Amino acid sequence: MGLGMTASKASAEVCGECRGKTYVIDRRGDRAQARVCACSARCGVCEGRGYVYEEREQSFSAKVGPKRYEVLVECVCQRRAQRVTHFNEVGLPGVVAHASFDSYRAFNEAQDRARSLAKHFALRFDKAGVNKGFILSGPVGTGKTHLMAASLSHLVLEMGVQARYVEISLLYSTIRRGFQEGKSGGEIIGPLSEVEVLAIDELGKGRGSQFEMETMDELIARRYNAGKTTLFATNYSLEPERRSARATPSGYRTTEDAKSTLREAELLRERVGERIYSRLCEMCDFVELPKETPDQRRMRQELERPAPPPGGMRAGRRASE
Ligand SMILES: Nc1ncnc2c1ncn2[C@@H]1O[C@H](COP(=O)(O)OP(=O)(O)O)[C@@H](O)[C@H]1O
Ligand SMILES: [Mg+2]
Ligand SMILES: [Zn+2]
Ligand SMILES: [Zn+2]
Repeated sequence: MGLGMTASKASAEVCGECRGKTYVIDRRGDRAQARVCACSARCGVCEGRGYVYEEREQSFSAKVGPKRYEVLVECVCQRRAQRVTHFNEVGLPGVVAHASFDSYRAFNEAQDRARSLAKHFALRFDKAGVNKGFILSGPVGTGKTHLMAASLSHLVLEMGVQARYVEISLLYSTIRRGFQEGKSGGEIIGPLSEVEVLAIDELGKGRGSQFEMETMDELIARRYNAGKTTLFATNYSLEPERRSARATPSGYRTTEDAKSTLREAELLRERVGERIYSRLCEMCDFVELPKETPDQRRMRQELERPAPPPGGMRAGRRASE
């Protein structure tokens, strides 16, 4: 159940800032941070007490029959505050603070599938059950992190699910630092292997050293064994079959063959190894975005460069981006 609408129910008007959600996510520094919307700062349900009385009915004995009584329960505003606090610990980057399923634009059929996959994952998430995650593969600036962020925001703020986001090279450097401080890999991986939903961004990036491979292997194995949900995004390709199917019988190499050999070095399977890759396939559904999918980061820059707006809101916001 979501947090939204409780504040706006009383009045017919929906808050323009949070659109009835009761919280807002913005960019603060390099992080996406949530806050309770001003419209919901003063709770109209409990008037600031933090709890409400809830009426219950139960039959304690057959002779007396059903009896009504009241219990104190936590108000929705308390739950909202906890979820907001938790969201701020997820670690989502500031560039995707405004990322939602609705703000995601699909330029091709694969992006349409990617959005559906992420949205269905988030909306149908079963807190009591085992949930299959997803892998999004594709070129930079195609909204992979955007869809991860939209999914995690929904899970954390609307459903109260525990989640973490990590960019893989940051994860490796945190673990390396931990080693230097005398901690074991398991100690550092521990919290990440236990969180309900973990999003790992930029999978396959790094030096591919033994340390990195072992770390990844341990983290994924632990999550796999515990039946936890993991989301991944990668710039590496998932589809070896289609690209290597062009071999010519003569052994003569066409430019296409040379290109496909080059591509093979960029396969996720090669980057993370067979063991991890086969686990991923079991744990996740996946969508691969084609090479020609437009880069939104570049498109935005190009749109902004020729005619910068004269002062005003947009310029102000861009300066802080
Ligand atoms: N298809 C899209 N629709 C709307 N915004 C997008 C889309 N793709 C990227 N963006 C925006 O562009 C920026 C970079 O996207 P990001 O998700 O980081 O790309 P990727 O992770 O694929 O490299 C973000 O601010 C994101 O919200
Ligand atoms: Mg990304
Ligand atoms: Zn509001
Ligand atoms: Zn309240």
